[in-house]
Amino acid sequence: MIRIEENYFIQALHTFRMPVYARWFVEYDTVEDLVSLLQSDLLRTHSFLPMGGGSNLLFVHEYYDSVLLHSAIRSVELLNETDSEVLVKVGAGVVWDDFVADCVAKGWGGAENLSYIPGEVGASAVQNIGAYGVEVKDIIVEVETIEVATGTPRIFQNAECEYGYRSSIFKHELKGKYIVTAVTYRLQKQPHLHLDYGNLRSSLPEGNITIADVRRAVIAIRRAKLPEPDEYGSAGSFFMNPVIPVEQYEKLKASYPDMPHYVVDQGHVKVPAGWLIDRCGWKGKEEGGAAVYEKQCLVLINKKNARPSDVVRLAEKIKQSVHDTYGITINPEVNYIE
Ligand code: EPU
Repeated sequence: MIRIEENYFIQALHTFRMPVYARWFVEYDTVEDLVSLLQSDLLRTHSFLPMGGGSNLLFVHEYYDSVLLHSAIRSVELLNETDSEVLVKVGAGVVWDDFVADCVAKGWGGAENLSYIPGEVGASAVQNIGAYGVEVKDIIVEVETIEVATGTPRIFQNAECEYGYRSSIFKHELKGKYIVTAVTYRLQKQPHLHLDYGNLRSSLPEGNITIADVRRAVIAIRRAKLPEPDEYGSAGSFFMNPVIPVEQYEKLKASYPDMPHYVVDQGHVKVPAGWLIDRCGWKGKEEGGAAVYEKQCLVLINKKNARPSDVVRLAEKIKQSVHDTYGITINPEVNYIE
């Protein structure tokens, strides 16, 4: 089924919850419907944006003068099961955390560290969502897509997706060229737990740890640090953690000995953007209705009837101040939608 809405109020369809209208909002629930839409006049003559749960988008204007295209493909199919693992194909429109909850309930390990991340399955594979030492690329087998130009299906194996930190081929070289329709994940029946990131281990009970314990702990940590959707609109981490050369980090460390870092490879380290923003004095600062979240400076929030321009201005000022203080450029993780 295809649903088409015109001049549609999309405040509830993006997690920043700002008052934005889209010229069109179009939803489909099968691959066939997507293919026929791609051949329609509407999509042939207007630019369009495939969107998931709207959890990583910043609409820069109050009117989005194009087409928002949302997948409501919500099938879940068990493709293969052995004594040790399962392969599950999940429709792009399935809510990511519903899938994680289902895996944990069935005792399938691999996704539990990624609990409570907002958004949908299709975007998980584009964005390579990650948290607490796990990235979704670690469990992706393949990604099913439709080519926009031709309407033909193409399956990308994990290695073809060119996954990196919050990035994939779908965000770069092939941006706008393919629409994800389903993702196949591999999950383990005897889970290998990843407990060494940050304060995860210390948030877990003593003794035998199950994937359900990990899910509970991750949800508790995220709830403590990130705003609940009904508290403030936000898009989670607004900036990516910058990756800088080791030499630059060593120099900075001389002046800022408590600067945290994670080793990326021999020549690079990642510095937490939240720490940089915090140390520049931004905690709780406001710009119009937008603000820096008190409990985690990496998150910009819609504090009180924020307008898109408030968030854009706040982000720009933060970026400038981090650059002036540390000589480090921080870039948004959030996608700016013109
Ligand atoms: N910090 C501060 N002040 C702040 C925020 C952080 O000093 O206001 C310091 C913390 O004390 C800590 C360090 O910065 O030493 C890192 O902070 P934290 O572990 O809270 O998170 P992060 O590394 O900045 C990343 C992801 C999160 C993910 C967590 C846990 C990015 C951009 N963000 O944050 O992802 O949940 O690690 O794995 O990589 C998201 O993408 O939306 C998201 C929430």
